[in-house]
Amino acid sequence: MSVTLLYGRPAPGLVEVPPGAVQVSPLAPGAQDLADLPDGHADQALVLAPGGTLERDHVLAQALRVLKPGAPLTVFAPKDKGGSRLRKALEGFGCEVAEDARRHHRFCHVARPEAPVGLAAAIDAGAPRRVPALAPPSGMWSQPGVFSWDRIDPGSARLLEALPTLAGRGADLGCGVGVLAARVLAAPAVTALACVDLDRRAVACARRNLDDPRVDVVQADARRPGETLDDTLADLDFVVMNPPFHDGGREDRDLGVAFVRTAARVLRKGGACWLVANRHLPYEAALHEAFARVDVKADAGGYKILEARK
Ligand SMILES: C[S@@+](CC[C@H](N)C(=O)[O-])C[C@H]1O[C@@H](n2cnc3c(N)ncnc32)[C@H](O)[C@@H]1O
Repeated sequence: MSVTLLYGRPAPGLVEVPPGAVQVSPLAPGAQDLADLPDGHADQALVLAPGGTLERDHVLAQALRVLKPGAPLTVFAPKDKGGSRLRKALEGFGCEVAEDARRHHRFCHVARPEAPVGLAAAIDAGAPRRVPALAPPSGMWSQPGVFSWDRIDPGSARLLEALPTLAGRGADLGCGVGVLAARVLAAPAVTALACVDLDRRAVACARRNLDDPRVDVVQADARRPGETLDDTLADLDFVVMNPPFHDGGREDRDLGVAFVRTAARVLRKGGACWLVANRHLPYEAALHEAFARVDVKADAGGYKILEARK
């Protein structure tokens, strides 16, 4: 049987996706991991390339490794999100590239060379590693492509400054590699912490970073708690979060609002949600709708730190 790999979720009609294509994006719960597939396994691949250079080259190198020699690979991306750099990246692996453009995207078509060059180096450069800047001096596990992979996000840093010592059972929604969770767990009165993220790479790193019997790290979509989160995630004492506001590279304000609603749903009455929001993001209406009390604890440097009580 012919194996087609699909990386990412292209807009409907952008490319023809053969039925039965195997999803390999880390952002799709349940998808295969390209790293687990053997060399020369696949007959075709379609890759909606991520924008970051290390992440993109890692994915392209993995796709070329996994394809049979001569197998077709189509790589595409919006022109303003790395599409115009795809040809050069593929040529760097020894591919002959045919390029076209459609619907604001560049498409590069190649046949997997007999002997591509530089795959191992690109795979290594985009692999998980310890990043000292995330928790000096020993660092935390992270990987190019996960949120703020090589430095603490300034919004998360503000939230860390304001966070009180928490207690009881809680959740970190959109936990990333576990920067907020690591701080929360420093409090002995925290008895359980559910860490939730959509990104399989972040989840894998968080599991390594938060080696603690109180922690459960799950890959799930926090927008759909009823479908993907365990029923035990209820009556929590606290939630911490730096909600995402990008989905597939586009700003999506509904994402943060959905996180606010999920936080309210999983908290007990009187439980607290601590979150950071960019000042321009209008979460306050959703917070007031879902919570009994909302306090702005800090407002500086373009970020608001909020405590919402259910
Ligand atoms: C702003 S980052 C915060 C990461 C981490 N808490 C920190 O402070 O560094 C938001 C996180 O939400 C994750 N995310 C995005 N959409 C999600 C969804 N629908 N469900 C769960 N997590 C999601 C992203 O992968 C990212 O790790």
